[in-house]
Amino acid sequence: MHQALSDLQQRSLTHVWHPCTQMQRAAQMPPLPIVRGQGPWLFDEDGRRYFDAISSWWVNLFGHADARINAAIKDQLDTLPHVMLAGCTHRPAVELAERLSALTGGVLGHCFFASDGASAVEIALKMSFHHWRNLGRPAKQEFVCLRQGYHGETLGALAVTDVQVFRDAYDPLLMRAHQVMSPDARQALPGESAADVAQRAAAELEALLAARHEHIAALILEPLVQGATGMAMHDATYLRSARALCDRYEVHLIADEIAVGCGRTGTFFAFEQAALPGEAERGAPRSGGPTSFWPDLLCLSKGISGGYLPLSLVLSRDAIYQAFLDDDVARGFLHSHSYTGNALACRAALAVLDRFEEDQVLQRNRERAAVLTAALAPLAADPRVEHFRQRGMIWAFDVREPFAGPRFAERFHLAGRERELLIRPIGGTVYLMPPYVLDDELSPWLAGRVMATLDDVLNQSPADADRAPEPPTA
Ligand SMILES: Cc1ncc(COP(=O)(O)O)c(C=O)c1O
Repeated sequence: MHQALSDLQQRSLTHVWHPCTQMQRAAQMPPLPIVRGQGPWLFDEDGRRYFDAISSWWVNLFGHADARINAAIKDQLDTLPHVMLAGCTHRPAVELAERLSALTGGVLGHCFFASDGASAVEIALKMSFHHWRNLGRPAKQEFVCLRQGYHGETLGALAVTDVQVFRDAYDPLLMRAHQVMSPDARQALPGESAADVAQRAAAELEALLAARHEHIAALILEPLVQGATGMAMHDATYLRSARALCDRYEVHLIADEIAVGCGRTGTFFAFEQAALPGEAERGAPRSGGPTSFWPDLLCLSKGISGGYLPLSLVLSRDAIYQAFLDDDVARGFLHSHSYTGNALACRAALAVLDRFEEDQVLQRNRERAAVLTAALAPLAADPRVEHFRQRGMIWAFDVREPFAGPRFAERFHLAGRERELLIRPIGGTVYLMPPYVLDDELSPWLAGRVMATLDDVLNQSPADADRAPEPPTA
């Protein structure tokens, strides 16, 4: 597919350095010139529509140009678009911090704001290390992450990320982190359940913590679904085990819910699924020793502002917050970004939380998920496909080799465009993360288009696929 580039595409390739893109190949997969969005649809300059099956990199929760979020932002725009959050405060930031704290039963009662997901990860790592240092334990300066984990692309976040193609060039610049086994359920040996894999992974974590806990500040993980490396899903018991081990060895547990928060896995926070029945409602004591299932620090971004404006934040337990209180300024957490707690973004986030309450989104998503899962059922039986999986509003399957063939992700993406889909497989993994607006008509349509695209791609002759190496996609 080598169509002539439009003026906008040509200018973009000349002057815009696109993210996650080998620009030398960009003309083969030119950026879609999008001029408008409405609901789950994006429209290009020729009026062609595309279903945003991955919520624009997992940020868009309620479709594009949602009337209620638009109204909230417009109101805020005329009142106070932005003011710095050092030395000033404003109602949207305060209300957002209060409401998020309340959603954790008050356990994660302090909210530190930033803009992008990776900044939130940097903040959580720094907070953890600095907390131990303030407690007189500066030796606790190492971090543990999971194989197949992804936490962003700034240097600190990349150091706890396990994606070679993103890391390799910068390896000399990265701090060393410990990597432990991912609880990815696809690793189950014959006769093993997902819970068994989780147990094996927890045993490896335990061995490391037992040996190195005096030097380890925190474990960082993506609860339930490791997104960017291919939607690897794991059993929730892993989260309980990790929580218990972190308590036992005095190591912080950082939950990176940047991709999986905001209802994506079926509960508002993914970590809620670590709770025993009834435990989620009770919350936990605000400070003091081992408490409940919640992590110590929780990073949120992407969906929290509905896919409108860059916003990220780190929620922390009181015990961590207290360790920074001192007459000495340098013992405070002095980290800052210019747009920290941007009022427009916080107001968008409040509108997102309103939507969750007003529309019973979590309940409706359970119904939506059942319909789409049923519509995708033929894939589970397709011999060309393995590991069909679903959690909340995330679906994924892996295309077996040799069926996938060279440059599968790129070819699937381009074939998807021809069938009105915006979809970006990761390697041989096709996944769906649609906005929470699916209805009984859209779900079968979406499933049908995904399966038809798969047929298109797998029926291509080898000559259609050139032999260039697979470009990175996420
Ligand atoms: C789990 C996770 N953490 C961190 C990030 C980084 O967020 P951002 O791209 O906004 O910096 C991502 C982005 O995909 C993510 O999925």
